[in-house]
Amino acid sequence: MKLFLLLGLVAVALCEPITFVGDKVLQLKPINDEHVTIIRELGEKIKLDFWKPRSADLVSIDMTVDIHVPAAQLAMVSTILQQSDMEVKVMIDNLQEAVKGQMDNRSPTKGHDYTKYNSWATINDWAISISSANPDLISRQSIGNTYEGRTMHLLKIGKNTGSNKPAVFMDCGFHAREWITHAFCQWFVNEAVSTYGSDPDMTNLLDRMDFFVLPVFNIDGYEYTWNRDRMWRKTRSKNSGSSCIGTDPNRNFNAGWCTVGASSNPCSDTYCGSSPESEIESKNLANFIRTNKSVIKAYLTVHSYSQLLLFPYSYKYDLAAHHSELMSVSQGAIAALRSLYGTKYTSGPGAATIYPAAGGSDDWAYDLGVKYSYTFELRDEGRYGFLLPESQIKPTCEETMLAVKYIANHVLNNL
Ligand code: ARG
Ligand code: ZN
Repeated sequence: MKLFLLLGLVAVALCEPITFVGDKVLQLKPINDEHVTIIRELGEKIKLDFWKPRSADLVSIDMTVDIHVPAAQLAMVSTILQQSDMEVKVMIDNLQEAVKGQMDNRSPTKGHDYTKYNSWATINDWAISISSANPDLISRQSIGNTYEGRTMHLLKIGKNTGSNKPAVFMDCGFHAREWITHAFCQWFVNEAVSTYGSDPDMTNLLDRMDFFVLPVFNIDGYEYTWNRDRMWRKTRSKNSGSSCIGTDPNRNFNAGWCTVGASSNPCSDTYCGSSPESEIESKNLANFIRTNKSVIKAYLTVHSYSQLLLFPYSYKYDLAAHHSELMSVSQGAIAALRSLYGTKYTSGPGAATIYPAAGGSDDWAYDLGVKYSYTFELRDEGRYGFLLPESQIKPTCEETMLAVKYIANHVLNNL
């Protein structure tokens, strides 16, 4: 009898979504070494979920640090923080409420909606139907399966001219919890096909180039954020010799792999994996880009949050060979973005602008020869973080479109 009860509890524990009742997200402002040490020690002592930067060792003076503190640890963390004179702000008072609050555009209608967060099943159905509704502009192809066996479909968007065109590759959803990114890739595809023929700029782009869009890179992780843990970041692969699951796919590429800003501990949120491209999702993407290297002129990878437009390098402080061009294009792109709603972005090389972190797909693509390699970090700056309300999907996507089009135009005009 007791055994059955126990099994029942285990089953419930395995299937029910984790809740975050009473958890808080705090923003800390370390201004001296002592503060930095306190934060790093907190990160080691307690299993804190670092939102910004991505792990405790990346914390430095004068950086804003966003941490998710579980309710059970709040008392201890508050005591430690109160003993220091560090500035602490409560960004999210009750994380469970914020998880509910992100769905502020909910109406009784089901099915796909560009102004809502869509589940993987809905996104997959959407990709099929938008492709078949626009056969002259979109084709859909598989680049392989995920660890759990879901198919990674790439949408190729552009007027079919019968000859090879230069292309921009763009992916969303590397990190599972960055839901605004998945929404952006869907928005982009729809905006492209629905403004083709009416917007001269988009018409020119699609006539003369192709966009390869991967709307969800880390599908297994995304599913997991819907069904079990909204704050999941990594892939869902098993690690030999550890009970911890997953690798950070943006530490898993062959660019200074695991040398800096990444962890070799499978339990870390920035685990670099057992080798470069150990994750099947990374391998599928890298294989596609290697195979199509001659046409791919730009690589855009979309993350959130922080409002940044980053370019190589992140695995070292050296300036990229094309630093000044990458810098000026990024400045043009963020100015275009800002022109719509005044949203302020910062741009620059990853290592110097946020933190050094090796194994990113941007650095890997750049070293492969894809000159225009950019990482977007979409809205916001920490008010909602990963839980950006659905009401911000439309403005975020509209403004980001301007930056992507700016980059694509530059690529086209500088072939
Ligand atoms: N927030 C992203 C990450 O930590 C930034 C990526 C910048 N590029 C890089 N190669 N680290 O994954
Ligand atoms: Zn990310």
